[in-house]
Amino acid sequence: MKKIVVIGSGTMGLDIAQVFAKKSFDVVVRDISDEILKANEARLNKSLDKLVAKGKMDEAKKADILAHITFTTDLNQAADADLVIE
Ligand SMILES: NC(=O)c1ccc[n+]([C@@H]2O[C@H](COP(=O)([O-])OP(=O)(O)OC[C@H]3O[C@@H](n4cnc5c(N)ncnc54)[C@H](O)[C@@H]3O)[C@@H](O)[C@H]2O)c1
Repeated sequence: MKKIVVIGSGTMGLDIAQVFAKKSFDVVVRDISDEILKANEARLNKSLDKLVAKGKMDEAKKADILAHITFTTDLNQAADADLVIE
């Protein structure tokens, strides 16, 4: 399985994307606007920062997780996905 697409970047979408990215899968997260994606990307960043602050994750793992997640409004990204989670 090479490409995973998650539809929706809210509470569930971010958590699901994070679980796959943590295991080094490439995940594309799709939402309906750039504003929402920007806000939710910042939310993910903040939640990973908290894990780093608590010593549950190091900065390198945080960077690795973020590197495996791409945010987009383009639903066509789902066309060649191996798995789509809505
Ligand atoms: N949060 C939970 O604990 C929980 C538990 C079980 C099930 N669910 C279900 O999971 C789903 C998502 O819940 P959530 O808590 O993540 O909601 P949320 O409101 O945090 O996130 C939903 C996201 O989906 C986006 N969205 C809406 N229409 C879209 C579209 N056409 N394409 C792409 N993105 C779109 C919204 O902009 C929003 O960012 C809901 O159906 C909810 O009932 C949630």
